[in-house]
Amino acid sequence: MNLQLTKNDLSHVIEADRAHVWHHLIQHKPFETVDPRVIVEGKGLRLWDAQGKEHLDALSGGVWTVNVGYGRESIARAVYDQLVKLNYFAGVAGTVPGALFAEKLVAKMPGLSRVYYTNSGSEANEKAFKMVRQIAHKRYGGRKHKILYRDRDYHGTTIAALSAGGQDERNAQYGPFAPGFVRVPHCLEYRAQDGWDPASESYGEFAAGLIEEVVLREGPDTVGALCLEPVTAGGGVITPPEGYWDRVQEICRKHDILLHIDEVVCGIGRTGTWFGYQNYGVEPDMVTMAKGVASGYAAIACLVTTESVFELFKDDAEDPLNYFRDVSTFGGCTAGPAAALENLRIIEDEGLLDNTLAMGERLMGGLHALSEKHAVIGDVRGKGLFCGVELVANRDTREPVEEMLVQKVVAECGAEGVIVGMTNRSVPGFNNTLCLSPALVATSDDIDRITDAVDTGLARVFQ
Ligand SMILES: Cc1ncc(COP(=O)(O)O)c(C=O)c1O
Repeated sequence: MNLQLTKNDLSHVIEADRAHVWHHLIQHKPFETVDPRVIVEGKGLRLWDAQGKEHLDALSGGVWTVNVGYGRESIARAVYDQLVKLNYFAGVAGTVPGALFAEKLVAKMPGLSRVYYTNSGSEANEKAFKMVRQIAHKRYGGRKHKILYRDRDYHGTTIAALSAGGQDERNAQYGPFAPGFVRVPHCLEYRAQDGWDPASESYGEFAAGLIEEVVLREGPDTVGALCLEPVTAGGGVITPPEGYWDRVQEICRKHDILLHIDEVVCGIGRTGTWFGYQNYGVEPDMVTMAKGVASGYAAIACLVTTESVFELFKDDAEDPLNYFRDVSTFGGCTAGPAAALENLRIIEDEGLLDNTLAMGERLMGGLHALSEKHAVIGDVRGKGLFCGVELVANRDTREPVEEMLVQKVVAECGAEGVIVGMTNRSVPGFNNTLCLSPALVATSDDIDRITDAVDTGLARVFQ
């Protein structure tokens, strides 16, 4: 791999990239003096860049996507075989991989039965929002149309998805947003909301109770759905506190509110179960997923619903508007479900859920051990191979460290050859959490290298 890289001079590629590619999520000014990073090849958790440097990727492709690791020839072959047979037909018809993947997927999701294909997480969430709106118009005279979303959660990049976005720095300068989206408080116990009495209830019950306060304020007859991440990702890797989900489910049932779980990050194994919500005994009405569905080998996202949600779009066939009048052109690409089928097979046959639990425990253990050593670690959170390390200037006041210092830690880990992430343009003042989400194939050695790099990075920046 490296041999080939050194033989091929990629300086032209770097110049073409510098001159013409508008990268995501990044300020380009530094590229006037330093080369943009160009990734050339990957295998397992390892990546090689245009300079031939090897990196250990503790972020699964930068945004927690490549769950089964890089270089999977069997997925490439499955996609090739499908493309030469049939690459595409619009979603008005079925395809062989589309039907087979839907069947396999819902078998992992008891209580859910219908799969709607799209091509990005944002788009899948928009489909769910549209369903809520259509149900409101058909059943409730348009009234039960509001969609609740949570502070610190993220549901995508389009204007409607940002309207349900709980990260104010991400949203800044992109308004005005779509009406009918209402924010509820976050559930991060480390930064508990005012008014909690630990003697009377758990923080989870209290934080869920804050959602009900919003429902009652808005009027339950105006609230159609509650959209939540099972574990908040880009908002700081927030695992829900004890008692949270039971109470959330109760509130939704009591007020006839659809529960929409955004599994775009947690879905397909990230937390050691097929879906994040399955850690908490939740029974959602709608689930969206994207990144890990085909581990980035093809673009695919899904919205999965219960049969009773599906029924609402078919029970009045006399009404010409009573079906889901929506399309996603690239939701009909067969590469997505073909890759997703093979991705699922790999996770099952290689026992990657069990590996995620075991390696997740090792990673959390390593990070907790680091917190004994580095006073700058305020909180360690995580589930499976999905961990966050919140850095604070003072453990007593929990004042976040300056963002620039967190960036330095990330850069020091990079210098050690390990790619880690951090909360970025997310919650104002709280871009202070390191993010770790290696591929589900990580070994003990990989995990230890990641922990060692964080150790070194923290020592260099803070000691
Ligand atoms: C929880 C969550 N939902 C939705 C999205 C949007 O997905 P996409 O970038 O595929 O549109 C993301 C992307 O990071 C996400 O983290």
